[in-house]
Amino acid sequence: MIIAVDGPAASGKGTIAKALARHYGLPHLDTGLLYRAVGLSVARTGGDPDEEKSALAACYFDDTLLDDPDLRTEATGALASRVSVHGAVRAALVQRQRDFANQDGGAVLDGRDIGTVIAPDADAKLFITASARERARRRALEMESRGVAADIESIVAEIEARDARDMGRANAPLVQADGADLLDTSDLAIDAAVQRAIALVDAQLERH
Ligand code: DC
Repeated sequence: MIIAVDGPAASGKGTIAKALARHYGLPHLDTGLLYRAVGLSVARTGGDPDEEKSALAACYFDDTLLDDPDLRTEATGALASRVSVHGAVRAALVQRQRDFANQDGGAVLDGRDIGTVIAPDADAKLFITASARERARRRALEMESRGVAADIESIVAEIEARDARDMGRANAPLVQADGADLLDTSDLAIDAAVQRAIALVDAQLERH
């Protein structure tokens, strides 16, 4: 059983994907981490994230990078978004994601193109969204909880820039996949969003 969870930055898709994995007893892969590792690797080796060859070379990163604390920063998210526009980068990461999806027993994957490219035949697909302002508010709360100062307007601008790049690119743009249910979490607390996601997945599994 494969569950595909896609959506824009800070929509809650990671939290929901993790909760679904726990609920259905499946392993989970946050595919954004792979693109983040490529972005971080290209920056650290002095490469140009906007140059395809340079970004492709960074795809052969050391897996220890997946535990790097800098992986989860917004700066790394922006680098990931820049390297992810290149077709060669996406192609280099496809097999690893498909192997994870197709393991015995199934898996939950979250990202931008799981339901469209990585696992178009997934048993259940969700597209998680929330307004840019609500996503920025959540990001600011999370930063403040870590003692980092947060400016809402600049976070909104960062989120909108990342959405525009991820939705506007030619290769595997972020889009609601055929057969995916839309879940807008703007007005939902985490628990309510998770319960709604489980209900949507259960209904899709019954239809299959
Ligand atoms: O989900 P995230 O914020 O960690 O993703 C970081 C960037 O990586 C995102 O802005 C675009 C890219 N990405 C992608 O192109 N395809 C995926 N399946 C996951 C992430």
